[in-house]
Amino acid sequence: MKQVDFEGVGKVVLYRLNGTIHATSAFCTHYGAPLAKGVLTADGRVVCPWHGACFSVCTGDIEDAPAPAAIHSFKAGVVDGKINVTADPSLTLKSNMSRSPKLLSTGVSGSGKSVVVIGGGSATFHAIESLREHGYTGNITVLSQEKHPPIDRTKLSKALITDSSKLEWRTAADLKIKYGTTLRTGVTVTSVDTSSKLVVFDGGKESISYETLILAMGGTPRRLPISGSDLENVYTFRNVEDSKRVDAVAQEGKRMVVIGSSFIGMELVVAVAKRGLASIDVIGMEEYPFQSVLGKEVGHGLQKYHESQGVKFHLGTQVEKIIPSESDPSLAAGVVVNGQTLPADFIIMGVGVAPATEFLKQSGFQLEKDGGIKVDQYLKVQGQDNVYAVGDIAWYPQQQTGESRRIEHWNVAGNHGRAVGKTIAGDPQPFAKVPVFWSAQGQQLRYCGLGADYDDVIIHGNPGEMKFIAYYVYRGEVVAVSSMQNDPVVSKASELLRLGLMPSPAELREGKNLLSIDISTTSSKPRVESL
Ligand SMILES: Cc1cc2nc3c(=O)[nH]c(=O)nc-3n(C[C@H](O)[C@H](O)[C@H](O)COP(=O)(O)OP(=O)(O)OC[C@H]3O[C@@H](n4cnc5c(N)ncnc54)[C@H](O)[C@@H]3O)c2cc1C
Ligand code: FES
Repeated sequence: MKQVDFEGVGKVVLYRLNGTIHATSAFCTHYGAPLAKGVLTADGRVVCPWHGACFSVCTGDIEDAPAPAAIHSFKAGVVDGKINVTADPSLTLKSNMSRSPKLLSTGVSGSGKSVVVIGGGSATFHAIESLREHGYTGNITVLSQEKHPPIDRTKLSKALITDSSKLEWRTAADLKIKYGTTLRTGVTVTSVDTSSKLVVFDGGKESISYETLILAMGGTPRRLPISGSDLENVYTFRNVEDSKRVDAVAQEGKRMVVIGSSFIGMELVVAVAKRGLASIDVIGMEEYPFQSVLGKEVGHGLQKYHESQGVKFHLGTQVEKIIPSESDPSLAAGVVVNGQTLPADFIIMGVGVAPATEFLKQSGFQLEKDGGIKVDQYLKVQGQDNVYAVGDIAWYPQQQTGESRRIEHWNVAGNHGRAVGKTIAGDPQPFAKVPVFWSAQGQQLRYCGLGADYDDVIIHGNPGEMKFIAYYVYRGEVVAVSSMQNDPVVSKASELLRLGLMPSPAELREGKNLLSIDISTTSSKPRVESL
C-alpha cells in the first residue's frame, strides 16, 4: 500500500492485493487521516490509522463506521511495467474525499414500505446511510428529541462546540433530498404500540405507523442519588445544550469539580484546561482514573499527565454530598469528599448513562435490569416483530465471547446502524465487529477489543510519557489493546482480533511487534464476518 501524487494536484493510494493493483482516493472520510498509514488486509480492507473506519479497496465502499461516506475507487492496472491510474483529478483532492453511496435510492418509489427510527444519534446516522447504500426503497422517518440532524457527538466533550451545524454529518436538506429521509426533530417518543405498529410521540398528540422499527435512543446521563445533585449548576453532559451550558461557565477564575473520572468528564477537563480556571478537582472511586478499563499502569500515566496540567485528583473515594450556596440555595457551592469541602462554581457529574428506554416499559417491552434491550445477532429485539435495537441501548451477543453485553462506543452504534440497514434492505447481516473507541486525553488514546474482564496487562513503552501499547489479557489470550502515539497499532490489533491472528501473551512479552505481522498477503479464515 502506497500513497502517490496524482497529476501534481491530488493523491491516490495504490494497493497490491493477490497480484492485482487497486487505487482509491487517499483520505479517510471521517477526519481525513491518510489511509496509506493505515492497515491493508488480504480480504481487501483498508483500515484507517486513527478511529477504526474501514473501506473496501476494490470498490471504495464503507466497511466499518465511523466512516460517514465512501471513498473514491479508480481504475488501475499495469501498462508497460508501470502502474497506470485513470481518475478525475478533482476526486483525488482532500477537499473532495467523500463519495455518496453508489446504490443510493431516495426512497420515493412508493413501495409502501417504511422504517421509523427513534433517536437521532450515531446508530441512526449510519443506519440511514446503510439503508440507502444497500438499496432500501421505502420511506425512512427519524423521530429525534434533539433539535438538529445527527451530529458528531464525540466532538462535544473534546472541543465544547456549541453550534450544532458545525457537527452535523448531513444537513436536514441533504437527508431529505439525497437520502429521502423525513427528519422530525425536537420530538419525544412516549410509547410504541407493537400490535398496531404505531409509534406515539409528544404525549399522544401525534403518531406514525411503521413496517420496521429501529430503537436507537442512546443513553440518559445518570445523577448520583446524593443531596444537592439536582442543583442548577450541577451538569451532566450528552448534547449540544449541555455543551453550551458548560462552555458558558468554564471561564477564567472559575472552580470546577468533576465527579467521576470517566472518559467524558476527563475530556472536558482537557477541553477547559487552557482557560485559566482557578481550580479543577476530579473525584473518582478507583485508585487511578480509567483503571477498570485501561489498567493501573496506564491509568497512573494518564493521571500524571492531568496533574501536570494542574488537575487535583481525589481518588479511591466517594462524594458525600453537594452543598448549596448560602447566597443562592438553587446553586451548588461545593462538594464534600473525605470530610473536606471542595469549593465549586460548577460541577460536572460524569457517572455514566442509563439506556433511554423508560417509555418502552409501558409499551410491553422486556428490559434488562439496567434498562437495556436484549437483541439477537441480527440486532432484532427478541419476541418482537420487525423491531431492532441498536447502539448504547442494545445488549447484543459478543462475537469474541458469545455473551450479551451493552457497549457505549460511537463505532459500535454506527456499525449496529450499518448492519440493520443492510438487514432491512433485504440482505440479513449478523453483527460481528470488534469494538473500537478513542478518547482525547492530552494525546489520542485508541482502544479495540473487549477487555472489561482482563486479568493481566502487558505494557510496551511508557504510559507515564503517554507513549505506549497496552495488551489486555483474559485467560491466556489478548482480548483488547490500547495505545497512545503508536498508530496504526490499534487498527492493526482490531484486524488481528477479527482474523484470529493476535499473537499470544508470551510472544508479546518477548517483544513481538504487531506491525511486523503481514496480513495483507497471508489470508486466514476470518473469525468475524465483515459487513
Ligand atoms: C460527549 C460525548 C463524547 C463521546 N466521545 C466518544 C468517543 O470519543 N469515542 C467513542 O467511541 N464514543 C464516544 N462517546 C459515546 C458515543 O457517543 C455513544 O456511544 C453513541 O453516541 C451512541 O449512539 P446511539 O445512536 O446509540 O445514541 P446517541 O448518539 O446518544 O443518540 C440517541 C438519540 O436518541 C434521542 N432520543 C432519546 N430518547 C428519545 C425519545 N424518547 N424520543 C425521541 N428521541 C429520543 C436522543 O435525543 C438522541 O438523538 C461519547 C459520548 C458523549 C456523550
Ligand atoms: S479519521 Fe479515519 S476513522 Fe477517524
